[in-house]
Amino acid sequence: MKGKFKRILYGGDYNPNQWPKEVWDEDMRIFRDARINSATINVFSWAKIQPSEEEYNFSELDEIVDMLSRENYDIVLATSTAALPAWMVKKYPEVARTDYEGRHHKFGQRHNACPNSPVYQKYARALVNRLAERYGKNEHVTCWHVNNEYGGECYCENCEKAFRVWMKKKYKTIEAVNQAWNLEFWGHTVYDWDEIVLPNVLGDGMEKKSVGAARIDTAFAGLSVDYCRFNSDSILENYKMERDIIRSYAPDAVITTNLMGTYKGLDYFKWAKEMDVVSWDNYPSYDTPWSFIAMSHDLMRGLKDEPFMLMEQTPSQQNWQMYNSLKKPGQMRAQSYQTMAHGADTIQFFQLRRSVGGCEKFHGAVIGHVGTENTRVFREVKQLGEELERLGDTTLGSVNETEVGIVFDWDNYWALEYTSGPNVDLMYVDQIHQYYKYFYDKNIGVSMIPFDADFSRYKMIVAPVLYMVKEGMKEALENFVKNGGVLVTTYMSGIVGESDNVYLGGYPGPLKEMVGVWVEEIDALAPEQFNDVVFDDGSEVKSRIVCDLMHLEGAECVAKYRSDFYAGTPAVTKNCFGSGITYYIGTDMDEAGIAKVLEMAAADAQVKPVISEETELEVTCRKADYGKFYFVMNFKDKEIEIPSCLAGNKDALTGETVETGETLKKYDVRIVRVEK
Ligand code: GLA
Ligand code: ZN
Repeated sequence: MKGKFKRILYGGDYNPNQWPKEVWDEDMRIFRDARINSATINVFSWAKIQPSEEEYNFSELDEIVDMLSRENYDIVLATSTAALPAWMVKKYPEVARTDYEGRHHKFGQRHNACPNSPVYQKYARALVNRLAERYGKNEHVTCWHVNNEYGGECYCENCEKAFRVWMKKKYKTIEAVNQAWNLEFWGHTVYDWDEIVLPNVLGDGMEKKSVGAARIDTAFAGLSVDYCRFNSDSILENYKMERDIIRSYAPDAVITTNLMGTYKGLDYFKWAKEMDVVSWDNYPSYDTPWSFIAMSHDLMRGLKDEPFMLMEQTPSQQNWQMYNSLKKPGQMRAQSYQTMAHGADTIQFFQLRRSVGGCEKFHGAVIGHVGTENTRVFREVKQLGEELERLGDTTLGSVNETEVGIVFDWDNYWALEYTSGPNVDLMYVDQIHQYYKYFYDKNIGVSMIPFDADFSRYKMIVAPVLYMVKEGMKEALENFVKNGGVLVTTYMSGIVGESDNVYLGGYPGPLKEMVGVWVEEIDALAPEQFNDVVFDDGSEVKSRIVCDLMHLEGAECVAKYRSDFYAGTPAVTKNCFGSGITYYIGTDMDEAGIAKVLEMAAADAQVKPVISEETELEVTCRKADYGKFYFVMNFKDKEIEIPSCLAGNKDALTGETVETGETLKKYDVRIVRVEK
């Protein structure tokens, strides 16, 4: 069992093109010292390698590739299509985007191409053809990095035309569109495909509720969700176009593009099917919980259910967040191992040498502005490099086996956050994270899975806010439970179908029979309002955001509301269905409440943590053919004892045996290797 690469790629974004040649040799010397073995190059060089419409110039890129080849690097070669050259926007303004407010953009920024511009596509194709022809056979180019952090939207006329074509393919008839989006509402019936308009603020999109609000309103969520699907597909077509060109010159190439964790704009499960390996950029801020980072890694691993690449992280500090704190001594190392603990086979930084100008000059790098290796950050990078070199290829390709699946679904992400009502505080990722956190705290391995996963591989499925139940989901979930699985689902589930129209006959629609309750009404609580939920054993927890008012239709009551006119009615229920069990959580409980229900469900499902002993350390397990690696990490503000069940085994980082009673300080790590 081995991964996509022969060694752990250790390096990152490298832009020697921004520096005079004298610096390059110095770079190589310093990187060698840090055991850097990989560089991601040519990410934003379109304007340099194609200075005009007719002219290409690869001489500098050739030199960079030659230098890195001499140093035996694994080169991650980007295609440079993520930032338009100025000449192109000047001559063909259509290559730029039109934004949500309807403004057509000038030259500037990056990630700025209209995905449906034939001119952009033509020049991107021409560029990638030349790159692949030139470097496709180079054995040092071990990975292709298409574009960069695909995302954003465009609402231009080309996109509108393309949307109509996409719609025609999906719905076939205009009647079907009227029905799908329920256009009789507000008299929006359309009679011709050309009457379909993109949902930005000039159309059926609405002003953002408040500055900075993540939620954007829409008069027709069905339209807006279809636009999200279309936009994700349009951009994916751009990726596939480049990928196929590279493939034609380099049939065995490993081709990827760097994703962004829980980024909302693209349906990454759909994208991952087109990628050889998932890679992603991890930029938590100073207050991001470690459980959230872990969830993001699990999601990125879950996309293909395979080890992934960490394409970017900062060695020290960011520049684009509000408060760009330093990573504390040891934190970068611990964070890198956490990444590997959840399935990464590479550790790459943005970037290797800190920029002299532009908006990223305060972004951390392996070599800082001082220009030498005499820095704390460099020493930490070097320490990690030496450790990874010693680890060799042993962890590569090893797998995180899990018994719990948490459903993550981009259609649900979009649809839930487009709903007008019942409560604006209902945010998809936060919702998923609060359920994930229980398993994280218990060291129970989790896979983040798509709605059409093979549920039978898991003992327990958690599907929070499963608002949109798409075709096949009801049956798949019912089969899972009938065959003995344990399902936990919540408020705001089973409400709408594929096009955001409500399932009539009572909530939670298609899940009603399986969960054995009928939700008659949904109350919304403002931030200052709470209810209390009382469990059978008398314990009480707080609940907020929404409260389902429900009737038992076969289920038993696990906990009840304490206040309001629905005091004494069920807040949490349990139902036996076939040989399995479903839990329905009717309100957004605090951490203790969620933990209580998930603990019952985990006990029913006989789900086990990766090690039997309880600990406040984070512990994950990656299995290789010859044994297991337990990643043991301390992210708490105190020294903690290593679980005794791991004592007697070797630490893969030091080769030393882990002793009983040994402790880990904050940010300390052991990778305990247990042979079969
Ligand atoms: C993103 C981009 C990089 C760089 C970093 C800075 O991840 O891919 O080019 O801008 O952010 O954090
Ligand atoms: Zn466009």
